[in-house]
Amino acid sequence: MERISPIATAENESIWGATVELPRSRRINSDLDCDVCVVGGGISGLTSAYLLAKEGQRVVLLDDGPLASGMTHVTTAHLSNVIDDRFVNMLSWHGESNTRLATESHASAIDFIERVSRELHVDCDFERLDAYLFAAPDHNDVDLHDEFDAALLAGVDVEWESRAPLTLHDTGPCLRFPRQARFHPFKYLDGMVRSFKRAGGKVFTNTHADKVTGGERAAVEIGEHRVQANAVIVATNSPINDMFALHTKQAPYMTYVVALRIPRGSIEDALYWDTLDAYHYVRLQPLDHSHDLLIVGGEDHKSGQATDTEERHQRLIDWASKRFPIGVVEFTWGGQCMETIDGLAFIGRNPLDADNVYVATGDSGMGITHGTIAGMLLSDLILGRENPWETLYSPSRKTLRAVSEFAKENLNVANQYLDWITPGEVKSTDEIEPGEGAILRRGMTKVAVCRDDDGKLTEVSAVCPHLGCIVHWNGAERSWDCPCHGSRFHADGEVINGPANINLAPSSKE
Ligand SMILES: Cc1cc2nc3c(=O)[nH]c(=O)nc-3n(C[C@H](O)[C@H](O)[C@H](O)COP(=O)(O)OP(=O)(O)OC[C@H]3O[C@@H](n4cnc5c(N)ncnc54)[C@H](O)[C@@H]3O)c2cc1C
Ligand code: FES
Repeated sequence: MERISPIATAENESIWGATVELPRSRRINSDLDCDVCVVGGGISGLTSAYLLAKEGQRVVLLDDGPLASGMTHVTTAHLSNVIDDRFVNMLSWHGESNTRLATESHASAIDFIERVSRELHVDCDFERLDAYLFAAPDHNDVDLHDEFDAALLAGVDVEWESRAPLTLHDTGPCLRFPRQARFHPFKYLDGMVRSFKRAGGKVFTNTHADKVTGGERAAVEIGEHRVQANAVIVATNSPINDMFALHTKQAPYMTYVVALRIPRGSIEDALYWDTLDAYHYVRLQPLDHSHDLLIVGGEDHKSGQATDTEERHQRLIDWASKRFPIGVVEFTWGGQCMETIDGLAFIGRNPLDADNVYVATGDSGMGITHGTIAGMLLSDLILGRENPWETLYSPSRKTLRAVSEFAKENLNVANQYLDWITPGEVKSTDEIEPGEGAILRRGMTKVAVCRDDDGKLTEVSAVCPHLGCIVHWNGAERSWDCPCHGSRFHADGEVINGPANINLAPSSKE
């Protein structure tokens, strides 16, 4: 069988990036003045920028990579109003009417994507389909009965089925949720960026925002340049303008994906999830005239707290092979989700900041719909319109009923500081193989050392510039990941993902 020819083949490449190249832009090279400056060109930033430009606002969009090169690049793009954190938990944290509001907001986001792709004449493989939630073998289906009752209370359409339509495995009774969807996010965003530019929007890529300030005129500083605006949206996935307030209410989790060739028509085109904590999530994506890709995700762990990426990908393949008639592996990738303590994103005015700095973060594994909700909600707030979701998603909310989740995640963070007193992972750089990285103790501090494929060593400080945790090597993406609040850095220490917004420092040689 012939392999597809991706535009780019790289480690950790997704089907989206391999098949669609988003429009390129240049780096900013002058000061600018606008109505709204959006920092971050993933689904949240792009949707916000598109909607505001459509309403006549002068919008400048900045991204420090190519467009959508963050977590939108590595999503699996299930579109669902079935909340990841389970309806039973949502009802206990938010009560019935707010849980209903949340599910309605995700359903509206799916409707929005369907409508916009039609209006922009974008063929983005959008399909409405059923989703199946089935019990993992070592879980009994009591969870499913509770979840069924909770879903009804949350106002979600749900039915019992005798089994999920998996070809090689009888799941037993499962829940079916109609009118869910899937799409190709890069085909969709391609149409959105082009429309944004036609409406006068300006895009600058390879443009790293160093600092964001609110006030009468908000400003974004980029090296020697400055963009002034009436409002700024920080849509950097993990906010770069907030040191503390939001980061104690969300936690970074790595999740892994394999995409396998499967004959067209061999399974029902649907979304599939099991009931594990680090649950499996599955969907199809059209590949060629006779095959689809079976996209299988799962194997989550707290960022920076596991390094066995290859084993995790292999376990996903093994799991899929027992349930679906899979063929060759076409892609493997992974990425990071920001899990909030109460299952909902933080979208709105940034706490502790002036009123004209807005933020969108805390995807909770539903960041494509949450990012779309961010576009709708933030454009309303900036244009002075009421929006029924404002309080629900407020970044300043305190969900007292999620206090045990808050304590659990912050205790985990506190434990990471013990890394300061442990020995290094290796005693000498000789122990580091090509393509690998490890932490070395040097006197009172720790150094992050990696060796490239040609044997060249690179050393940087292992101390995360956000709040001082020790970073860990991520072999799949060849990055340094912080286990505390999700900052990530390239092998040479250059920052990829907030909350840290500066690079790892040079290593001390003492
Ligand atoms: C493996 C995986 C599977 C997922 N599956 C699903 C799913 O099925 N359904 C779903 O709804 N969600 C899913 N999610 C979540 C969802 O993909 C993400 O939450 C969403 O794409 C995040 O979009 P974003 O725009 O908020 O952030 P991003 O896409 O990360 O965009 C942020 C942008 O900000 C830029 N940036 C960062 N710092 C700066 C700076 N200082 N200056 C300028 N630019 C900066 C980055 O370059 C990046 O392009 C998944 C996530 C992962 C990792
Ligand atoms: S991300 Fe907070 S200390 Fe590293």
